[in-house]
Amino acid sequence: MLKTVLINAVEAGAAEILRFFNNNFKVSNKEGVNNLVTEADHASEKAIIDVIHKQYPDHHILSEETGEIILDSNYKWIIDPIDGTINFAHGIPLNCVSIAIEHHGEIVMAAVYNPHLKELFFAEKGSGAALNDKKIRVSEESRVIKSCLVTGFPYTYINTPDGPLEIFERFVRKGVPVRRLGSAAIDLCWVACGRFDGFYEHKLEAWDSAAGYLIVEEAGGKVTDLAGNKFSVYQHKVLATNGKIHDEMLDVINNRKEL
Ligand code: IPD
Ligand code: CA
Ligand code: CA
Repeated sequence: MLKTVLINAVEAGAAEILRFFNNNFKVSNKEGVNNLVTEADHASEKAIIDVIHKQYPDHHILSEETGEIILDSNYKWIIDPIDGTINFAHGIPLNCVSIAIEHHGEIVMAAVYNPHLKELFFAEKGSGAALNDKKIRVSEESRVIKSCLVTGFPYTYINTPDGPLEIFERFVRKGVPVRRLGSAAIDLCWVACGRFDGFYEHKLEAWDSAAGYLIVEEAGGKVTDLAGNKFSVYQHKVLATNGKIHDEMLDVINNRKEL
C-alpha cells in the first residue's frame, strides 16, 4: 500500500509538471535572484500532498514549498515537487518529482520520476533499486581519473576553502569530465544506474537528497557527507559514488591528494 501511494503521488506531481511544461505559468523569486518557484511547483506539491493525505491523513509531511505539516506520526514524507525548477522554467526536460518516506528516522522507500524521459526510479530499504521496474547497479569504475562525474552549484555561492568552484577546478584541470545537469535528484539516480560514477554537492536540502540517497545505496553505491561521515539528509553536503572511487574522491575534495 505504501508503495502504491508513493507511485501514485510521484505520478500526480509529474502530471502537473507536464501540464505546465513549455506553457504559460507564473514565476516568483525565492532567496537569490535565480532561485525560482513557479505555479507548477505549487500545483505539483498540492497534487502530491492530496494523494498522500487521502490515504494517510495523519502522516507527517516535509515539502519544499509548504514546509512542514507536522502531525504526530512515525512516517514522514519528504517531497520535492519539482527538482530542477530552473530547467523546468527554461523548457529543459531534466526535472523530476522526488519523494522519500522516512519511518522512525530512517529513509525506507523512495521514488524519483522524470516524466519527460519517462524514467521512474524506485528503491525500498533492503530490496534494491530499479529503473522502470528493472534492477539497477552502480558502475564498476575504480579510478577517479577515468570517471564521469556530476555536480551542482548553490544559488547563493559559499566562499569557503574546498568550495564548489575549487573542487570543480581540481577535476577539470586533470581532464575529468564533470557534468552539471541542474537536478540533484536526477544526478543521484544517474549515479545509481551507472551513468555517472560519482556526484558531489555542497548545499542540498533534505528534499533534494533524501530519495536519491536511498536509490544510490540500494543500487550498491555509497553516500556520505564531504568529510566521509555517515550521511544524514538533514545536513547539506553530499558525496555519492559507486563505492569504488569514494575514498579517492574524498582525498581530492579535501585536498589531501592531487589527481
Ligand atoms: C536544485 C537542484 C539543483 C541543485 C540546487 C537545488 P530545485 O533544486 O537540485 O541541481 O544544484 O542546489 O536547490 O531548486 O530545482 O528544487
Ligand atoms: Ca530541489
Ligand atoms: Ca524544488
